[in-house]
Amino acid sequence: MKTAIYPGSFDPVTLGHIDIIRRAAKMTDRLIIGVLKNSSKTPLFSIEERVNMLKEACKDLSNVEVRHFDGLLVDFAKACNASVIIRGLRAVTDFEYELQWAQSNQAINPKIDTVFLVTNVQYSYLSSSVVREYASHGGDVTSFVPDFVVKQLREKFAYKEK
Ligand code: PNS
Repeated sequence: MKTAIYPGSFDPVTLGHIDIIRRAAKMTDRLIIGVLKNSSKTPLFSIEERVNMLKEACKDLSNVEVRHFDGLLVDFAKACNASVIIRGLRAVTDFEYELQWAQSNQAINPKIDTVFLVTNVQYSYLSSSVVREYASHGGDVTSFVPDFVVKQLREKFAYKEK
């Protein structure tokens, strides 16, 4: 059984992430979404909120699980018996950063490969930080994130629909 992990901060999950999840879930027997618990940045959403968002977004995908992790990605992958790490690539600017981490992870554990999925062009500009920035100013993020995340962003930033 081939297990892959899709790690990230998901603060919050975007439609771009969900597109990658749906495509990755078709390529593997089991996909584990790993939500990073402790990032150097203070997240907008708690780890519980982020895990629950992903569970809601993937509830129709029977081979997808959502877990949180702390520490090294390669250790999490090993603990999950995963041999593949999935990462989305939006633009050339992502590539250098992602290549460096993929190669260093490979140096630490050569049994785990990183596979890059090219982000759908529809979402190539999209990131969680763009969503947070727009939402913090009351901007319309309905085309960036699922409706239930729009609702949670409104609650977080305490603004009403325009
Ligand atoms: O969504 P993000 O913030 O781009 O995801 C980054 C993530 C979670 C994949 C990365 O920060 C990570 O794996 N952190 C865990 C610590 C680690 O193993 N770092 C080295 C590999 S990136």
